[in-house]
Amino acid sequence: MPDTERSLQDALGRVAGAPDMPALGRLAEEFLGKTGIVGKLLASIPSLPPAERKEAGLAANRLKREIEAAIGARREALEEAALASERAGEGFDPTLPAAKPRRGSLHPVTRVQRELEDLFTSMGWLVLDGPEVELEHYNFDALNIPRDHPARDTMDTFRCDAEGKLVMRTHTSPVQVRAMERLKPPFRAIVPGKVFRNETKDASHEHTFHQVEGLAIDRDLSVGHLIGAMKTLLRGIFGRDIEIRLRPGYFPFVEPGFELDARCPFCQSGCSVCKQSTWIELLPCGMVHPNVLKAGGIDPEQWTGFAFGLGLSRLTMLRYGIDDVRLLLSGDLRFLEQFA
Ligand code: DAH
Repeated sequence: MPDTERSLQDALGRVAGAPDMPALGRLAEEFLGKTGIVGKLLASIPSLPPAERKEAGLAANRLKREIEAAIGARREALEEAALASERAGEGFDPTLPAAKPRRGSLHPVTRVQRELEDLFTSMGWLVLDGPEVELEHYNFDALNIPRDHPARDTMDTFRCDAEGKLVMRTHTSPVQVRAMERLKPPFRAIVPGKVFRNETKDASHEHTFHQVEGLAIDRDLSVGHLIGAMKTLLRGIFGRDIEIRLRPGYFPFVEPGFELDARCPFCQSGCSVCKQSTWIELLPCGMVHPNVLKAGGIDPEQWTGFAFGLGLSRLTMLRYGIDDVRLLLSGDLRFLEQFA
């Protein structure tokens, strides 16, 4: 026992005199590691006469606790000393502001999306969501696009299973039918969301982009209501009245269907955005086809609807003068930080 006591005193003395953290670390290893004094004491226990084992075990544990406590105390003292000397140093200025955490910012698409949500909710529209992996039924069939319909070819679809029953939605229009199934008419809703096409990427094509679907169901809706809603939408987006025109456009889920053009908000007599035409093709829209109402469980004899599909990615690009759609989902901070 005197031997152990001596080793302990020796260890405590060396710990107390450790000049810095690395030295303290080495002492901890030396004393508490497998081959240190505690380890050796523990290892010797099995070879002792049974009557002495208990006491040896207790002694080893006491030794360990005391050395650990001494190391802890020395560590604290060293840390305090380091801090004190740093504070006493010339470069220390306690009045300097703390380093600021880096702040993120909203993605430009999210900004425009939120503006549109504010605009539509202020007019009593709902904001709905739908699945990005969608049943073929909602993405195509219920929208009056049966399997053999050539309109399927206009949307290069990512298929998620061998039979093609599950697809990455190619547009937000499937949520029209999901909404009809869930909500009692009359109702009005927009559906912002991501859509996916198996496209070759270039400055104006991406495999993933954003749309905002709009759907209004009520009695006796006409093209006049559609035009009124679209004018309000444009006033909200551009902050003033914008002249529009409708051209016929074909989409199987609307009849009649239109392409809506807006007078270029950026020029009077032609610019690069409107390709010198003074009109920009803004969104397709139309009156909901009776077959689609039926697919959503709504009686087309009693109810009517209009719908539109706004290219949210495109609108964001127009809004901020972004000339390459691939930037939007690039995750490139040099691009994103411009919107902070
Ligand atoms: N879903 C169509 C597309 O992505 C766009 C569209 C056209 C949506 C006409 C509509 C609409 O709601 O009425 O190409």
